[in-house]
Amino acid sequence: MAAPTIDTQKNDQIIKELIAAYWSELETIQNYIAASTNLAGIRAQEIKESLRTDIPDELGHAQQLARRIHVLGGTIPGSKDFRATQDTLQPSKDTRDVVAVIRGVLDAEASAIQQYHKIVELCDGVDYVTQDMCITIMGDEQEHHREFLEFLAEYEAPQERESAVRV
Ligand SMILES: [Fe+2]
Ligand SMILES: [Fe+2]
Repeated sequence: MAAPTIDTQKNDQIIKELIAAYWSELETIQNYIAASTNLAGIRAQEIKESLRTDIPDELGHAQQLARRIHVLGGTIPGSKDFRATQDTLQPSKDTRDVVAVIRGVLDAEASAIQQYHKIVELCDGVDYVTQDMCITIMGDEQEHHREFLEFLAEYEAPQERESAVRV
């Protein structure tokens, strides 16, 4: 019995969405390197450290995606096809603005979760290997997202306390 094959149109669609995820991993790596270096001040230390440790995770995701694109018969694009989209992760003039970085990271992680969710649904019943890979990666992004949600609660709190005192 021949192994079941994914129909070409569906396969192309999966490759297209895997490439979109691949680009966003690479853009995330660029912006995490920048933010983990640009941020200044004692308050920023924990965020910088966390971003530094996320970078190898995101790189691992990009490499897994590239391998899967290749297995499905796609071509991993070169840098000239890259288009940036992460507006809220651009460096701020205020290098001590930790909350802006946290919000930017939350946007990047939320959009990654959304993209993996889309691929998981697209693969349902047709490509279990890609689906399984994207479920695992989505779990990593959910962990990153949760971590930064906790940072947001922590870092926004002092400002709220200050304004409460002022009132
Ligand atoms: Fe990632
Ligand atoms: Fe992530």
